[in-house]
Amino acid sequence: MRYITASQGTTTTDRWIPWADANLRIMSDLVATSRRIKTRELVALLRETFVPSWHDIHGASHWARVRLNAMRICSSGNGANAHVCELFALLHDSQRLDDGECPGHGARAASFIATLNGKYFDCTTRELDQLMEACSLHSDGFLSDCPTIGTCWDADRLDLGRVDITPDARYMSTEEGRQLASRLHGFSLDDDEDAQRPVTDRRTPARVRGLGRY
Ligand SMILES: [Fe+2]
Ligand SMILES: [Fe+2]
Repeated sequence: MRYITASQGTTTTDRWIPWADANLRIMSDLVATSRRIKTRELVALLRETFVPSWHDIHGASHWARVRLNAMRICSSGNGANAHVCELFALLHDSQRLDDGECPGHGARAASFIATLNGKYFDCTTRELDQLMEACSLHSDGFLSDCPTIGTCWDADRLDLGRVDITPDARYMSTEEGRQLASRLHGFSLDDDEDAQRPVTDRRTPARVRGLGRY
């Protein structure tokens, strides 16, 4: 896995253009695993229509890390649908208008997705329902006991480090997500009773305040 940082290059011009191209290549590389996604065409569409900076905290490198987190969780064998998770990574923040709270960007992503199915990717009715629900509610701070939706949300929250928030195991829906978050915090899940409970039995409020905007 290759990461390219914005600090590469020697001048502003040198930095900006190669970084943009590198991001496009990274996205293309990263989302190539699902054969039901026309990756190049979809990334080109997103590149053309994405309003905030492609390079900022909700741009392409975030989507790539969300996808990587999701694939790590999927590889634990939790039953999540990797195709839906890859599409979530690409699309969940695609309808942001800015890098602030941007209310409604998840719902707008869900509506956008409905117009893309069959053109840029193929989803079954069930997959489309899960993808739209995951995108629509991803910034409302919920937990989910659906492996696919839980994986999408955990993958997004596991990238909170980019805005100086350490992901918290209590706010993870999946076991693998909890393990990854606990490692970032440097504590054992054995010490956190609440994080060990099933999602539906967690003492932490189901709606997690303070994480909503991402
Ligand atoms: Fe996100
Ligand atoms: Fe978001």
